[in-house]
Amino acid sequence: MKKQYKLAIVGATGLVGRTALTVLEEKKLPISEYVFFASSRSAGTKLNFMGKEYIVRELNESSFDEGFDFAIFSAGGDTSKKYSPIAASKGCIVVDNSSAFRMDPNVPLVVPEVNSEELINHKGIIANPNCSTIQAVVALKPLDDKYHIKRIVYSTYQAVSGAGIKGVEDLENQTCDEKNLKKFPHPIFNNCLPHIDVFLENGYTKEEEKMINETRKILKRPDLKITATTVRVPVMNSHSESINIEFEKDFHLEDLISTLKHAPGIIIQDDPSTNTYPLALNANGHDEVFVGRIRRDDSIPSGINLWVVADNIRKGAASNAIQIVEKLISSSKLEN
Ligand code: A2P
Repeated sequence: MKKQYKLAIVGATGLVGRTALTVLEEKKLPISEYVFFASSRSAGTKLNFMGKEYIVRELNESSFDEGFDFAIFSAGGDTSKKYSPIAASKGCIVVDNSSAFRMDPNVPLVVPEVNSEELINHKGIIANPNCSTIQAVVALKPLDDKYHIKRIVYSTYQAVSGAGIKGVEDLENQTCDEKNLKKFPHPIFNNCLPHIDVFLENGYTKEEEKMINETRKILKRPDLKITATTVRVPVMNSHSESINIEFEKDFHLEDLISTLKHAPGIIIQDDPSTNTYPLALNANGHDEVFVGRIRRDDSIPSGINLWVVADNIRKGAASNAIQIVEKLISSSKLEN
């Protein structure tokens, strides 16, 4: 196996890109060379990383000519659509955070705890799922394996960090004047917006459609019944989700909780007697998915409610992408 690798971060100056640097500093991956790209706006910016100063480069069509093993793209769909295929054509394995390739049948959509076996099928591009989907499927997969999910109802409470730096600024500025908003169509301060990404003809938003389609693809359940309402809330970071699940098979609640407890990447926080349940503030800075408020849905024969919280910039984006790179490094596919 090759000993040391070379990695590019595209969108290194953004929220996800900067968090990727933090996660890479924490992990001891066998990567010896890093190159950081952004647009012309921040080319020349200095980034401190692993005790060294790096100069951000402008991304262009020859950026990948020098040869990379991996690139993590977090610079929006248009940048991914244009530059990921260029990078892949030069032998670089791209882990793409945008939605550009997620539903492409030739592109694996991977959450390492759930379906890392899909990585072997990559053809140069691997898609990182939507942040809300990632944390949901970490909890859903072990339950689907054991009890076979019949239907899912998602209701999300999503942090502004998921909308990038401008979204964070709209909350920080605490403005209620629509003219001064940088990202959202209405004030996010003191408000909840049932509107994430654009509206589609069927009345759903694209974020809702992403959750539905990506969950089906990752769980390999193309016909699974799912509905979703995704809401932006005035929380800086970490998404919370209420997930209502109906199963084909019946279950004992203790067994179901034990199944979740032993599943990879999950921490159970569930003790009403001490007001213990997952909280956005406590999930910040962690890579695990926190699950609590686990209780039967008494309105149907075999259903439960879960409250699922995770750091959307870490597990929902940067950390998941880096975990994919980690898996690839330890797999033989890279040697093909
Ligand atoms: P830049 O700093 O030059 O704008 P966020 O989602 O937090 O706003 O971050 C978006 C990231 O994607 C930033 O690093 C941004 O760089 C980068 N980016 C945006 N457009 C391009 C582009 N055309 N080429 C390369 N990087 C881009």
